[in-house]
Order: sequence, then structure tokens, then C-alpha cells
Amino acid sequence: MTNIQFAKRLQPLQSNVFADMDRAKALALAAGVQLIDLSLGSSDLPAEAHVIEAIAQSLHDRTTHGYLLFNGTQGFREAAANWYEQKFGIKVDPQTEVLPLIGSQEGTAHLPLALLNPGDFALLLDPGYPSHAGGVYLASGQIYSMPLREENGFLPVFADIPAPVLAQSRMMVLSYPHNPTAAIAPLSFFQEAVAFCQQHNLALVHDFPYVDLVFEQTGDWEKNLPNPKSKIQNPKSLVPSILQADPQKSISIEFFTLSKSYNMGGFRIGYAIGNAQLINALRQVKAAVDFNQYRGILNGAIAALTGPQAGVKTAVATFQQRRDAFITALHRIGWNVPTPQATMYIWAKLPSPWSQNSIEFCTQLVKQTGVAASPGAGFGKSGEGYVRFALVHEPSLLETAVERMAKFLNSN
Ligand SMILES: Cc1ncc(COP(=O)(O)O)c(C=O)c1O
Repeated sequence: MTNIQFAKRLQPLQSNVFADMDRAKALALAAGVQLIDLSLGSSDLPAEAHVIEAIAQSLHDRTTHGYLLFNGTQGFREAAANWYEQKFGIKVDPQTEVLPLIGSQEGTAHLPLALLNPGDFALLLDPGYPSHAGGVYLASGQIYSMPLREENGFLPVFADIPAPVLAQSRMMVLSYPHNPTAAIAPLSFFQEAVAFCQQHNLALVHDFPYVDLVFEQTGDWEKNLPNPKSKIQNPKSLVPSILQADPQKSISIEFFTLSKSYNMGGFRIGYAIGNAQLINALRQVKAAVDFNQYRGILNGAIAALTGPQAGVKTAVATFQQRRDAFITALHRIGWNVPTPQATMYIWAKLPSPWSQNSIEFCTQLVKQTGVAASPGAGFGKSGEGYVRFALVHEPSLLETAVERMAKFLNSN
């Protein structure tokens, strides 16, 4: 028996659909079912050899073994600033406008501590990435969920946010290309978001892990750039950055990671770029919590950002091939899911009788077939009725997963 009293803020963190799915996977495995795990967006591709080499060399350099203070991260901040400028044509000050993170999840989850007083609202996408909500709960804030509907291209409608909520809101979080819906946002939408947040004194947060995981030209978003002089001659990105809609960096902060473009999820390295005051506030929170990532990992990340980019292209081509194989197989069994233009996910509307019970669908699916997917409800109320598949296996295994699902759907 214990009399330890836990903080109320822990309560909303206790219901976690993904932990439940983990248990369902373990049970299926124990029952001898051969698992095909499409439930986690963790790339199965390896980090590149020149990145591993940079880290390996650092390990043998004892000067990398101690705590790393902010000044020691300068080389990494410069690499990130240059990478950003090359890609989006906007200058970034590595001293005041870049912050290294222990993964972008760490940064997005810590930022609400710098912005919210207890009871303040954060405006979040629903469905959305779970750590966005987790960070708000940790800061004792309140969440206003902006529902994403298919008929709106999975973009939120700002006019629907009630005035009393807005009056008590301090921040909005966007993330496109979007996990889990795989939707992309045009620059005009970001311009609308910037104007709205400026009008209502909100910090605008853009979580941007899938900046590179885009499969084809996604329209002429570049045409709308606010300042024609900032037009990029040879844009290296197929999707816009929030700072292109806010080039003065008046209210915006953007989060990047090496987890997706460079297959470095386990290394835990990301960075924030944007408004210097927001960067400084997040830096203050982090200074109370951590001592920066290990210098060797930063050296690996510098090698990734400044070295040959062929590996990024390979990763994109690999996920595109898997997307095509999986979608073709789904269409073959009569499941008409739209083809996403970005991310490593397929967001599929569930057929009846599952159309309002994604958790039961995923639990039964893994139990009966070994195919593990993520229930839409795990990403928020508006995710109900959908399931997310992560394309983290070879096409042949993805096709096997669809064959097993066909039998499951027929027998249920
Ligand atoms: C929207 C979003 N943000 C953050 C992350 C986590 O990124 P990191 O590995 O940099 O913490 C993910 C990973 O899937 C994601 O989809």
C-alpha cells in the first residue's frame, strides 16, 4: 500500500491507446501469430554510413564525453541554419533563432511550459500527434481540439474556434505534411494561420518532421510567397515552411527532426528554428531539464545535414514504392483509400461494422491476423472511424498484410 499522492496532470496521460495496442501485439505474439507491425512510424531504413562514421569517430574522442553547454552546439546550429536557408531561402541566425533538441517531440512537448499558465488554452489539431497534447497536459493547460475533416482537406477551420476559448488561448500547433492523415497544406493556408495568430496574439508552432517525405510536386505554393524577392530560385522543398508565411519570424517557431529524413529516430536529434523570443523561452525550459544531446550525435547530425543528400532521395523513393504497392493492394480488395502525397502513412476510412470503432478493429485485427495498425481514435476524437498504417516494411510484406486483412474483413 502506498500513500503517495500523484499530480492531477498525470491523469490525462494514463489513457494511452498505443500502450493498449502494445499489449494486444504482445498477446498476439505469445499466441504464436506472426506479427506484421504497421503501427509505429519508426523507419526501418538505416542511418547513412557517413553519419555513423562521424558518430563512431566522436566516440573515440574523449573531449566529446562531457556535458555539452549551449556554446558547444554552435557547429550544429550553424549546420541547421544553413540547411534551412538552402531549402527555403530565408536567413536564420544560428545564435538566436536555432535550438538543438533531443528529438522534435522533446521540443514540442516542452514548449507549452514556456507559454501556458494553468488553464490557458492551446489550439491543437484533432487528430494530431499525441505528444502535442501531452505537453499541454504537463503544463496544466487546456486543449481546444480543432477537428480535421476530410471535406476540408484535413485543414482546421479557424472561424469555428469559439471567442471565449480564443480569448484564453496562447498557442496554436499545426503540422503539415500531417501525421496521421498524410494531408499537406498550401502556403496560402499558412498565411491565413499567421494572420489569425497575429490577430489573436498566439504563438504559432509548426511541427515539420515530414519536410522531405513528399512524393511529388504538390502545386504552385511558391507562387504565393509574400515577398517576391524572397522567391526561391530553385526551391529544394516540395512543401512550404511556416516561416515563408512569416518571414519576419514575428510569432512562429518550426520543429525539425533527423528521425525521418535521415532515419535517425533512435539517435534522438532535432532542432527548432524561428522567433528568437520563443527560441529563448524554450531554451530556458530546457536548461532546467537537460544538458543537450551528446556531442557525437550532433556531429552525426552535422554530417547528415551538410553531407551528400542521396540517402534522403532513396528514403523518399522507398516510401513512395511502398505506398504504391500498399494502395494498389488495398484497391484490389475493394478498400478505396486515397493515395497520399506525403509522409510514411496511409490513413484509411474504416468500413462498417468498424466505422465507429477503430480500437476494436485494431485489437481484433492484430489478434486474428497479426497485422498491427494504429486506431484513428488514438490520435484524437476526430480520428475515430479511421486507421493508420505505417509503411515500415518491404512491399511484399505490405501485400501479405493486405491479403490477411482481406480475409479478416470478409469473415467479419
Ligand atoms: C508529427 C510528429 N512530431 C514529432 C515526431 C517525433 O519526432 P522525433 O523523433 O524528432 O521526436 C513524430 C514522429 O513520428 C511525428 O509524427
